[in-house]
Formats: sequence, C-alpha cells, structure tokens
Amino acid sequence: MLTAYDTMMAGIFDAAGIEVLLVGDSAANTVMGYSSTLPITMDEMIVFSKAVVSGAQHALVVCDLPFGSYEVSPEQAVSSAVRLMKEGGVHAVKLEGGQFFVPHVRALVAAGVPVMAHIGFTPQSEHALGGYRVQGRGDAAAVLVADAQALEAAGAFAVLMEMIPTGTARQVDEALRVPTVGIGAGAATTGQVLVWQDMLGLGSGKSARFVKKYADLRSVVSGAATAYREDVLAGTFPAAEHEFGDR
Ligand code: KIV
Ligand code: NA
Repeated sequence: MLTAYDTMMAGIFDAAGIEVLLVGDSAANTVMGYSSTLPITMDEMIVFSKAVVSGAQHALVVCDLPFGSYEVSPEQAVSSAVRLMKEGGVHAVKLEGGQFFVPHVRALVAAGVPVMAHIGFTPQSEHALGGYRVQGRGDAAAVLVADAQALEAAGAFAVLMEMIPTGTARQVDEALRVPTVGIGAGAATTGQVLVWQDMLGLGSGKSARFVKKYADLRSVVSGAATAYREDVLAGTFPAAEHEFGDR
C-alpha cells in the first residue's frame, strides 16, 4: 500500500501492482504544506480522491476521513464516507481511533462502506498524544490489542498500525483474522504502507526511522529544473527539433 494524491502517481503505482492506494490526509503535509493533518477538509480530500480513482485501474482506493468529519457521531461518519465514495469515487475509508469508534465503524459497515481502522500513533490526535511518539509500549500493548479486536468485531476489513513496537504489532496481528498494515510497526504485519514522497525521496530534511528511500527523486527533479533553466539562459533549448517551421 502506498499513498497517492494525483492521477499520474496513482497510475504508476497501480501499473506497478501496488494493491492498495491510500488517499491519505497526509496530503495536508505532502501536497498542501500544512503543518499537521488537522486542517485538511472534505472538499480537498474529494479532489485528491477523484484524481487517484481516475488513475487507478486495479488497486483498491482507500480515503482517509479527515479530522472533524466523523468524530461527532456515527451519522456524521456515514454522511462523510458517503461523500468520499459518491463524489470522490473511492472504494473504502480509513478512520483513526480505537474502541470509542466501534459505533461509527458499525454504522459505516451497515451502510456498505468498507472501513480500515488506524490505531497506534494517530496523527489527527497529535496534540492529545503530545507529539509524534511511539504508542503501544508496555501496558499499552494490551489496549491496542483490545482496540483492534473491537474494531474487527465491528466490521473493519483491515487494521493499520502506525509507530508501535514490533512485538506489539505482532500481538495485534496474531489476535486478528483481518489483515494488518504497518507503518513503523515492523515486519510482522500483513502489509506495509509508506507515504510516496518519503519512499521516493522527494522531501527535504531528515525522514523518519521507519522510512526506506527507494529513490532520490528530489535530486532528479532539482537537477532537471537546473538543467532546463541553464539551457534556456544559454539558448540551447528550444533546439531545432522542438521548433515549428513554416510548412
Ligand atoms: O495519511 C496517511 O498517509 C496515512 C498513512 C501514513 C498511514 O494515514
Ligand atoms: Na492519514
């Protein structure tokens, strides 16, 4: 599973066989430049969803319910998810949280909305959690297992775990029948997810411990922009093969 927010990247990942594309609310950071995921809106998520859905032929497309679009009530969760599916065209939604959201997950599943649950470090709660911190250490592991089991019983089709110790992730995975997806949760989960700009090395600055950089797109893009500018200044672009003649 990889994130995608636009049609071309979605098409490339889909053609490469990536099984699940996540229209993550990480678009708040990676696309919009907001300093957290909290400000991103339903309308923004719908725009990204439409783009990803149009680029994907085979992948399951999952969209995050953004902060503020589902917490108030199961009814609010259903109406937001319906918008993401109807207007955005996605196949499933993801929401952050544990046992408290069991009624929300039940209502979504009853309405025909496939739900992926997201537990462990949940970025929409970063202020409540005191920042980007590993969750589920020590006694907290049992809480995560109970959360995951409750979400599975409520009908979640998969459980995503972010930034938790490998041993905790293994306990959760072993306690469930549905697949698990990890990010910063070790290798015991059924699948993995990464944010594509992290995975392809597009961002500046240091990446998180759990990121593996499979490419260095930042230097590729930056080198191309520099070469283009130099060509234009030197008059070597456009060349004859880029020009239109009279006839
Ligand atoms: O928004 C996102 O990209 C996510 C993944 C990192 C799990 O929720
Ligand atoms: Na997210």
